[in-house]
Amino acid sequence: MNQEMLQQQIKQLAIDKDALLIAHNYERDEIQEIADITGDSLALSIEAKNTDKQIIVFCGVHFMAESAAILAPEKIVLLPRADAGCPMADMVTAEGLREMKRQHPDATVITYVNTSAAVKAESDICCTSSNAVSVARSVDAKKLLLVPDRNLGHYIASQVPEKECILWEGYCSTHDRLNVEEVQQAKRDHPDALFMVHPECRPEVLELADHICSTSGMYEFATKNPAKKFIVGTENGILWRLRKENPDKQFLMPNREMICPTMKITSLEDVLRCLQTMETQITVAEDIRIKARRALDRMLAVPRD
Ligand code: 13P
Ligand code: SF4
Repeated sequence: MNQEMLQQQIKQLAIDKDALLIAHNYERDEIQEIADITGDSLALSIEAKNTDKQIIVFCGVHFMAESAAILAPEKIVLLPRADAGCPMADMVTAEGLREMKRQHPDATVITYVNTSAAVKAESDICCTSSNAVSVARSVDAKKLLLVPDRNLGHYIASQVPEKECILWEGYCSTHDRLNVEEVQQAKRDHPDALFMVHPECRPEVLELADHICSTSGMYEFATKNPAKKFIVGTENGILWRLRKENPDKQFLMPNREMICPTMKITSLEDVLRCLQTMETQITVAEDIRIKARRALDRMLAVPRD
């Protein structure tokens, strides 16, 4: 079956089953093309919660589908590839975090959404790359434990100098591989381009940025800014929508290796199989879900800057 036929079959089956097809900004182009909604991890989980549909096919990685299951436990949340994990989320366990909390009993734990439900359940509040600084400012604590991304943690710490920040030593190997020389070379080659970068990149790379933002922030910045050229510091799946929404602008990757292997693992065949077999359903044990939900709800109540 060719790609178009596969896409048609998926769309028809999604209609027949009354399923919502959602895709993260880093998914393969051919999956983003047929998704009902594309977006960042949190926006997609909120869509999953708010939709009338009872079946959600979440084309993304495990923690994202788990967030949807935490927010919408009454729905069927399907992950087309059960092995689509996030290597950074795997760098922290609930037990590891409990140990860190024992060492810093006076710290408030701010946990990035890129974590398992069990880790969220051990946390005071969650954050995403788009609201991390607002969340850090909102908590009434002098000491913060920032989990699990050291680069995002470093960025948050730079924005709240009045607080003591302890960083977990995790990182995203897709973002962490972008280096200063690659960005400087791209800037030399394209002096008229603006550099927008995700805070999962290294601190020395962020120092070169014109704009530091989440994936959703990049769509907004690229559309609103009159510049015609952008150097993009995040996973390359973002290019599909950036180019679609801004056909008159140019988007350049400073490093061609910025490809998240687990985001790209899901194929159209997997999505079709998922709708046919209704597997794999993602669920979260109720005791964990309630605690994780508390940390997510606390985050959702923080006003945006
Ligand atoms: P978003 O929260 O922007 O969707 O990013 C998730 C992610 O995995 C970034 O690497
Ligand atoms: Fe995880 Fe990085 Fe992939 Fe995002 S890009 S899902 S943080 S490994």
